[in-house]
Amino acid sequence: MPYISDTPSETSIESTHDIQEERRRLHHDADVVIVGAGVVGSTLAVALGDQGRSVILLEKSLKEPDRIVGELLQPGGVEALRKLGLRDCLDDIDAVTVKGYGVFYHKVPVHIPYPSNAVEQSESLEQEKSNHKPRRAEGRSFHHGRFISKLRAAAMSHPNVTVFETEVIEPIAFTSERGQRVIGVQTLTKKVQKDYFFGALTIVADGYSSKFRKQYSAATPVSKSKFWGLELQHESCPLPMPEHGHVILSDSAPVLLYQIGSHETRALVDIPENTPSASLAQGGVKAHLQKIVLPSLPEQVQPTFAEAIERGHFRSMPNSFLPASTNCTPGVALLGDALNMRHPLTGGGMTVALNDIVLLKQLLDPSIVPDLENTQLVLKQFKVFHWQRKNLTAVINILAQALYSLFAANDPQLKYLQKGCFRYFQMGGNCIDGPVGLLAGIIRQPFVLFYHFFAVAFLSIWVMLCEQGVLGAVTGWSAVQGVLIFYKACVVLFPYIWAEVKS
Ligand SMILES: Cc1cc2nc3c(=O)[nH]c(=O)nc-3n(C[C@H](O)[C@H](O)[C@H](O)COP(=O)(O)OP(=O)(O)OC[C@H]3O[C@@H](n4cnc5c(N)ncnc54)[C@H](O)[C@@H]3O)c2cc1C
Ligand SMILES: *[C@@H]1O[C@H](CO)[C@@H](O)[C@H](O)[C@H]1NC(C)=O
Repeated sequence: MPYISDTPSETSIESTHDIQEERRRLHHDADVVIVGAGVVGSTLAVALGDQGRSVILLEKSLKEPDRIVGELLQPGGVEALRKLGLRDCLDDIDAVTVKGYGVFYHKVPVHIPYPSNAVEQSESLEQEKSNHKPRRAEGRSFHHGRFISKLRAAAMSHPNVTVFETEVIEPIAFTSERGQRVIGVQTLTKKVQKDYFFGALTIVADGYSSKFRKQYSAATPVSKSKFWGLELQHESCPLPMPEHGHVILSDSAPVLLYQIGSHETRALVDIPENTPSASLAQGGVKAHLQKIVLPSLPEQVQPTFAEAIERGHFRSMPNSFLPASTNCTPGVALLGDALNMRHPLTGGGMTVALNDIVLLKQLLDPSIVPDLENTQLVLKQFKVFHWQRKNLTAVINILAQALYSLFAANDPQLKYLQKGCFRYFQMGGNCIDGPVGLLAGIIRQPFVLFYHFFAVAFLSIWVMLCEQGVLGAVTGWSAVQGVLIFYKACVVLFPYIWAEVKS
């Protein structure tokens, strides 16, 4: 195209783009270098690219991932995607609508729909006025790999982002009298070629087994159980409550069931460490699935579950807990599972991650941080991030851990708390709207969690008193039990609250 002198502005914008693109492609230099193109890396690349930052995204394998993680996105996560302009990444992947949960306690069901969507209420006010019906929140479940491929495609087609397939080996840092500062990373491409990438800010988003976490965080993940994943195949949905996540409670640890496509349902079976029935002597995981898990499932799911056991190919993932810590090294930050993890029972990981990106995007906006080379300002903003994110993440983290303790109950007090929790859900109304609103990432008030948790504790004591009747009251045994249950509730909850407030 000939040079047209009366459109200089457009030409100059074009050329700065070209220069930035060339700097990324040829000189491996950008404003931001992101390690890992999973949920966090891909989304963050687009979010920062939209702000005009020049972004390099590094991923060790761009093949569509095939994993048993990150398959159910809570309404609070769908909403975050919408805010980031990436809501369409949930389209055309055969995703299934999720309208809430069904909890089955020794096969007795209780229906727990998501509450009406407070997050979107202001925007849908007009619509509400017209039909007087508040919109209910919705989540989505899907094949993890398909969602990731969509997010990666969005990053790849972004003019301000360049994606490289290369494995990050180590950070590049220099040490001055003011301490260490990270300026980029060293990588290995196709397992042979060393490469170097430089950025004012390096974001480490390399997932649950992060190689770089321990250099920048004092916390280490703790895992006491694994989720074993099976894929049930079927013509039509075999679940008792279609379009709902299913939580199966029995004498053993919880099982999750949710559709991930029109013809596939995921089963995630929690198996705590040292479960006797899953020991090698007893026949291992397969025997545990057959003898213990299969009979505990709703009858209509059992045939497809049995088929999936026969097909084999079980995969497992550790269920980790990792409190977030603040980072003090200039030029680098952890995000996603590298920073913070909670038990996946409540499917909160991606919702936390996506909301983190929404918040971080605000805090790093070029109007606040014009130049990311200003590492002191960036560190300060990450400190603000660390505390502000807790409104949502503390709720999701504490809820996931506390609920898991109840649902995997392995002593008499926890079993009463589990039963009390179920009775609480059966009461309906606010007794389900509150808890599921917290879980969905819609209610962001830690106090609401505290309130419902202790309401459950008192209800559990009441359930115990009713069961033990006159005899318990006369002998004083009930009083002792009541104290023990209350004590247990505190022991379950407070360490996780402490993990959130201490740093
Ligand atoms: C069993 C299980 C089930 C779960 N289910 C849910 C759920 O239903 N809903 C939900 O919201 N959350 C769920 N989670 C949590 C969720 O999967 C995570 O929170 C989420 O995937 C974190 O995203 P991330 O981007 O931090 O990490 P990841 O998605 O793991 O991405 C990390 C990326 O970094 C790449 N990478 C790693 N090392 C390097 C390197 N050295 N160089 C280059 N690239 C590298 C990896 O290839 C990967 O692409 C589950 C977790 C588990 C364990
Ligand atoms: C890319 O960055 C430029 C500034 O370098 C900005 O003007 C433009 O809006 C960004 N592009 C997109 C698609 O966000």
